[in-house]
Amino acid sequence: MSQPTVLPRHGLSRRSFMAGTVSAAAAAPLLASAAQAEAPTASQSKLRQPVVTSLRINKQVYELSLDTRTSLLDALRDHAGLTGTKKGCDHGQCGACTVLVDGKRVLSCLSFAVMNEGKDITTIEGLASSDGKLHPMQQAFIDHDAFQCGYCTPGQILSAIGCVNEGHAGSEYDIREYMSGNICRCAAYPNIVAAVLQARDETKGA
Ligand code: FES
Ligand code: FES
Repeated sequence: MSQPTVLPRHGLSRRSFMAGTVSAAAAAPLLASAAQAEAPTASQSKLRQPVVTSLRINKQVYELSLDTRTSLLDALRDHAGLTGTKKGCDHGQCGACTVLVDGKRVLSCLSFAVMNEGKDITTIEGLASSDGKLHPMQQAFIDHDAFQCGYCTPGQILSAIGCVNEGHAGSEYDIREYMSGNICRCAAYPNIVAAVLQARDETKGA
């Protein structure tokens, strides 16, 4: 036998009426602002249109169709297929994404791809010479066993080259200080410093 439905004695109590009224009133502006937030403006829609972006990476030109908000890191990895550059934090805190732009160290997660048109971008894939000979800094990292998992290593090597060419590799202290933006969770720091010291003279201007 089905149970009879039990209704409140007065149908709607004062307490439940007030609660319903207050919550509806509170929700109204939120719903309105959510609707506004969802409706893209004309300029937002335009921003989302892909634009052809020309990037010179490792001396090769790539014509990439990119949302203008694409980071250089994502352009390299997801559009140019150069996955040697690593994404660690994606917030400018770990250094894993370091590349060279016109010879200077850049955190590619903090740079929009479109800002780098007309510049020379160097990633880890562009360091070895065409006959396969490693860059002196790459060789030094191998000689000194300056990595364990290797995740931070492309960023460490690019950063080390930048560090030397900035003139900030004069001493172990300087190397530690000016490489401090590149975090190594495996703590290979003593070996990294030894590698930079070894490759320092060969790297200048290379
Ligand atoms: S991924 Fe760019 S600094 Fe961490
Ligand atoms: S070698 Fe593993 S994070 Fe540096």
